[in-house]
Amino acid sequence: MALIPFSIKKSLHGTRILIRVDWNVPTHEKIIDTEALKFQRTLPFIDALSKKGAIVILMTHLGRPKRRDPNYSTKRIADAIQKREGIPMDYIDSHLESERGTLSVQKRIADAKPGDIFVLENVRFQRGEEKNSTTLAKRYASFADVFINDAFASCHRAHASVVGVTKYLPSFAGPSLLTEVHALERILHKPKKPFYAVVGGAKLMTKIGVLQSLLRCADRVYVGGALAHPFYQAMGHGIGKSIVEKRAVSIAKKMLKKKNIIIPMDALVASSISNKTNPKNKILDEIESRDVIGDIGIETMKKWSQELQKANTIVWNGPVGAVEFEPFSHGTNLIAHAIARRSKTKAVFGVVGGGDTIPVLHTLQLEKEIDHISTGGGAMLEFIASRGKLPGLQALQKKKNT
Ligand code: 3PG
Repeated sequence: MALIPFSIKKSLHGTRILIRVDWNVPTHEKIIDTEALKFQRTLPFIDALSKKGAIVILMTHLGRPKRRDPNYSTKRIADAIQKREGIPMDYIDSHLESERGTLSVQKRIADAKPGDIFVLENVRFQRGEEKNSTTLAKRYASFADVFINDAFASCHRAHASVVGVTKYLPSFAGPSLLTEVHALERILHKPKKPFYAVVGGAKLMTKIGVLQSLLRCADRVYVGGALAHPFYQAMGHGIGKSIVEKRAVSIAKKMLKKKNIIIPMDALVASSISNKTNPKNKILDEIESRDVIGDIGIETMKKWSQELQKANTIVWNGPVGAVEFEPFSHGTNLIAHAIARRSKTKAVFGVVGGGDTIPVLHTLQLEKEIDHISTGGGAMLEFIASRGKLPGLQALQKKKNT
């Protein structure tokens, strides 16, 4: 994929560089975890640009706020990074829906000194961001000389700060975005066989495209978590009180015709999903109307862990059980260990991604064993499903930068 990297010249003295990062991290915690991979991957580049004298203007989204809400303000991020990483960062309370608000940001940047780093307010507070508004894109562009997209995890969104802005500034790919693209391209182009994928999580409807795409290119696609529930129903098994998307059952039925789709053969069930429960292992035929499925069963855990040791390419996204509850975390933890064990082998290429999956690796301290951890959940899956055609990447490819 022909993406133009941004090369750091000797001096960038006073060059205004607008960077789209994806610093969308959990907001429910009181403290923003500055050790999150999304910060670790992008901060060294930002720091390097600042040290070369660039004026760096950062923009990111945070959560999916419906309106301006201090819980989703990027001020929390700027403060946390400044405090814990020691990188000075000025938050700008930007109101870009008005010309006055835009002028005030422009003035702030015009008064900046080489090396200054600014963080604009959450782009999702700005009217038109998600609709890719031309006016907003031009306003973003008015702050800088150059645009860099270093937000792989947002590239599946055709938003103004990802796509629109590229029309109005010379635009480049940032190093962390390039690392992601190069790693995931290995999966698209001639992955070393056998290629096994493990897909978990909650909603089949959001993962249909990627499952279909994986079923075409992978030798085996293991489906776990609540994502497997419509498949159980399509196979004629009961799922008790477990959740299922009704529309998904007929789609699951069609997918089951594929020989390479692997559905769990047993499950851990309980009367409710909680930390206090003592789950029972049941084969699918034994699941009763009062049961809730919380994890893949013991035979499935053993079989999948063994089979994964034969893979030469592995992709994993999404827990295979309700991992946030200890009694239902075993399946996901075992899969994580199995993938890490195999991925560690030199000839094997293992990729893991997604907001629910990375914390599992982190808790089990397995990050180093995986060849590539993608910061993108939706973006990683859509990259595979669309064969690399994400709006954010296509916008960069169209650029000639003349
Ligand atoms: C992610 O965490 O996957 C990205 O930041 C995308 O977030 P979004 O789904 O809210 O666009």
